[in-house]
Amino acid sequence: MAAIEFEGRSVALREGETVLDALLRNDEPVAHSCKAGSCGSCLLRAAAGVVPARAQSGLKDSWKAQGYFLACVCRPESDLKVTRVGADAQLGATITALHRLSDNVMQVRLHCDSPMAFRAGQYVSVIREGGLSRSYSIASLPDHGDLELHVRRIAAGRMSGWFHDQAKVGDRVSVLGPSGECFYVPGREDQPLLLVGTGTGLAPLYGILRDALRHNHRGPVHLFHGAVHPRGLYLVDELRHLAAVHPHVEYTATVLQGGDGGEVEVGAIDHVVLNRFPKLTGFRGFVCGDPSLVQTLKKKLFLSGMASRDIYADAFVPSAV
Ligand SMILES: Cc1cc2nc3c(=O)[nH]c(=O)nc-3n(C[C@H](O)[C@H](O)[C@H](O)COP(=O)(O)OP(=O)(O)OC[C@H]3O[C@@H](n4cnc5c(N)ncnc54)[C@H](O)[C@@H]3O)c2cc1C
Ligand code: FES
Repeated sequence: MAAIEFEGRSVALREGETVLDALLRNDEPVAHSCKAGSCGSCLLRAAAGVVPARAQSGLKDSWKAQGYFLACVCRPESDLKVTRVGADAQLGATITALHRLSDNVMQVRLHCDSPMAFRAGQYVSVIREGGLSRSYSIASLPDHGDLELHVRRIAAGRMSGWFHDQAKVGDRVSVLGPSGECFYVPGREDQPLLLVGTGTGLAPLYGILRDALRHNHRGPVHLFHGAVHPRGLYLVDELRHLAAVHPHVEYTATVLQGGDGGEVEVGAIDHVVLNRFPKLTGFRGFVCGDPSLVQTLKKKLFLSGMASRDIYADAFVPSAV
């Protein structure tokens, strides 16, 4: 059976066990959240040994070249020497602003100790003192300096509750990343874009929308943002303003209940989108937020004619702990 060497200690892996589970079983404090290869929180580095390809899937090439891997999906077949990641992947950061965007969404601004190269729509893992780690999508543009995150309050949520109730300007966290491939790639500026998200799924879409405009995207851009109730919508005035200033941008707010049937449409967001656009051939799509909605929409967009290479998605997979 393979063994891992971690900070001078040797840990034997059990049959089928991941590197993350073996380290946690041995009380090693390793950051993690989804345990499904989705959030990027458990990034570690192999200083020696062979990392299975699955454990590096989706990581950027420069990280792969340095041996970075996701510990929660890493089941090595031979011995590995494992270290924590370096300063190129994890930075200290200071909270510079906390601003309530709605009853349950907090806008958080983070200033990293050194500049982080990212694309609007990617995500970072925020790690609090004590090691609690959760991923949040980046709503800001790279040239705006600070990272802007939108954090939705989850009942009894350890990280979101902290951001909403306890965090203060000046508090320190660590930031790991950026990760993810859900961002605007310049080129094909006349292609129609479809952006769909519920809740804080708006965060990456807000970044992607403004990034596309920054790159002079000329094709129509259709943003759909959904919530259960109207009070779950946020940035409504900003988005209406963007649509007013850019005639090729269309913003549609949808709710399941309580809409006025006027400016806010009532209905399930996937139905609203597909009623408006039954044929999506030639579109590029971005779908973010609730994992089951992301899964459903990816399938429906594809069945409506969108090429799978044109569908970008980020599922906000919750923690497994
Ligand atoms: C790639 C990625 C990007 C993400 N981007 C964002 C973002 O931009 N904004 C944002 O607000 N969140 C985002 N998330 C989700 C975020 O990482 C956390 O999962 C979320 O903030 C809850 O963490 P917590 O510590 O507050 O709750 P936890 O302490 O982890 O959970 C508390 C309880 O609530 C349950 N729970 C957790 N999440 C949900 C949920 N969504 N619905 C119902 N029950 C839940 C848990 O199972 C647990 O029982 C993203 C996740 C991923 C993987
Ligand atoms: S990617 Fe490993 S814990 Fe989320």
